[in-house]
Amino acid sequence: MRMVDIIAKKRDGKALTKEEIDFVVEGYTNDEIPDYQVSALAMALYFQDMTKDERVNLTMAMVESGDQIDLSDIDGIKVDKHSTGGVGDTTTLILAPLVAALGVPVAKMSGRGLGHTGGTIDKLESIEGFQVELDGPTFNKLVNENKIAVVGQSGNLTPADKKLYSLRDVTATVNSIPLIASSIMSKKIASGADAIVLDVKTGSGAFMKDLDDAKALAKAMVEIGNGAGRNTIAVISDMNQPLGLAIGNALEVKEAIDTLQGNGPADLHELCLTLGSQMVYLADKADSIEHARELLEDVMRSGKAIEKFKTFIASQGGDASIVDDPSRLPTAANQIEVKAKKSGYVTEIIADEIGVAASMLGAGRMTKDSEIDLAVGLVLKKKIGDAVQEGETIVTIHSNQENVDEVIEKIQQAYTIDGKSPITNELIYSVIHS
Ligand code: URA
Ligand code: CA
Repeated sequence: MRMVDIIAKKRDGKALTKEEIDFVVEGYTNDEIPDYQVSALAMALYFQDMTKDERVNLTMAMVESGDQIDLSDIDGIKVDKHSTGGVGDTTTLILAPLVAALGVPVAKMSGRGLGHTGGTIDKLESIEGFQVELDGPTFNKLVNENKIAVVGQSGNLTPADKKLYSLRDVTATVNSIPLIASSIMSKKIASGADAIVLDVKTGSGAFMKDLDDAKALAKAMVEIGNGAGRNTIAVISDMNQPLGLAIGNALEVKEAIDTLQGNGPADLHELCLTLGSQMVYLADKADSIEHARELLEDVMRSGKAIEKFKTFIASQGGDASIVDDPSRLPTAANQIEVKAKKSGYVTEIIADEIGVAASMLGAGRMTKDSEIDLAVGLVLKKKIGDAVQEGETIVTIHSNQENVDEVIEKIQQAYTIDGKSPITNELIYSVIHS
C-alpha cells in the first residue's frame, strides 16, 4: 500500500477501506508516514467528507493505537458522559454522585485541561486531601463498592489522535465534523465506557457556535458510538451564557453541593436532570426517561445524592466535612461587586468573555504548567432575562489580587443590558438518538 495512492483516492472523493485507514493510522503513530502526507490527507478529508463506515474505522483505528481501559471487573453497565466544553460547566461533579446514588457505576477518567477554569480533576483538588491518582485495582474496587470513583488521566490513550489533532491544529483542518467526531469518540471508547451520553454545546461560548453544526456533530458522534457497539445518545444544550452561576474551581464545588441538594441554579439543575436521566436509562436502571428523571429527583430530595458525594470524597481521602461547611473550601481574600451601568433586562452574556475574565483572576491555566488559584472566580448574580437596576450587582468577583479593573472591564463588556422586555433563553434544543 502506498500513502500517495490513498491521498489521491480521497482527493477524488472515494471512500477508503478499513485496511487503508488502519495503514494510515498505524503508519502515522509509528512515525513511518510523514506529517506532510497526513496533512494532505487531512485536507482531502476536510473537503471530501467521510462515510459512516470510514468514520467508525478511523475512530477504532485511533482507539487501537494505544492503551484501552478495561472496566470489565466493574459490575453493571458503565455509562460515561462527555461535554464538548463551555464556561462554568459544573455538570460532571454533580452527575457522577447523582447517578451513582441510583446504582449506576461511574468509573470516570477526567482531565485537567487548559480552559478558563481547571477541569474536573482540578475542581476536586480544591477539597483538602482528595487523591486523584488511584491504581487500577483500587479504582475498580471503589467503583464496585461505592459505584463511583474519579481518576486523573494516565497511560497512553489514543496516541494517534494526539498526533493527528496537533497536526490539524496547524493545518487548518480542526474544523471538520468527521474528524472532530472521530477524535472525541476515540477517547471515550478507549476509556472503556459501555454507553455514552454526549452533551453537545452550542452558542457563543461553545466550540460549535451554530445550532445546525452542533446537530451535525452530535449525529456524527452518535453514529460512531452506535456503530462501534456503544449505546450513545447526545443532548444539544445552550452555551450562549455560562452554565449555572459559579465559574471557578472551589466555587463550582460549592455550586455542585447546592445542586445535589436540589438548591442549584435552574439551568444547571435542569441540564443535570436531562443528562442524568439519559445516563440512568442507558444503564438500565429505569424503564423510561421520565421514570429515570423521577428517580433522580427522589435522590436529590431524600439526601441520598449528597450522601453519595460525601462517601465519594471520603473514599478518595478528601475532607467530606466541606459538604456541610463549604467555608472550609479555599476562599479568596477579596470579594468585589460589579455593578450594572444602567437599568433594564440582561439580553446577552458573552460566555467566552466571562471565561476570559475568570482566567485573568487565575482560575484557569494559561499554559500546561501554570498553577491554578483554586479559590478565585466569578459568581453571576444576573442571567439572561433577569431585570436589573442601575447600580445593582451583576457579578461578584472572588480574587486574590487587589486590582481587578481589567476584569471588571471585561465583565461589563460581556453583559448587554437593554431597556426592552425580557427574553427567554432556551436550554435544551434536542436529543439525538441516531
Ligand atoms: N476536541 C477534540 O477532542 N477533538 C477535536 O478534534 C476537536 C475538539
Ligand atoms: Ca457553573
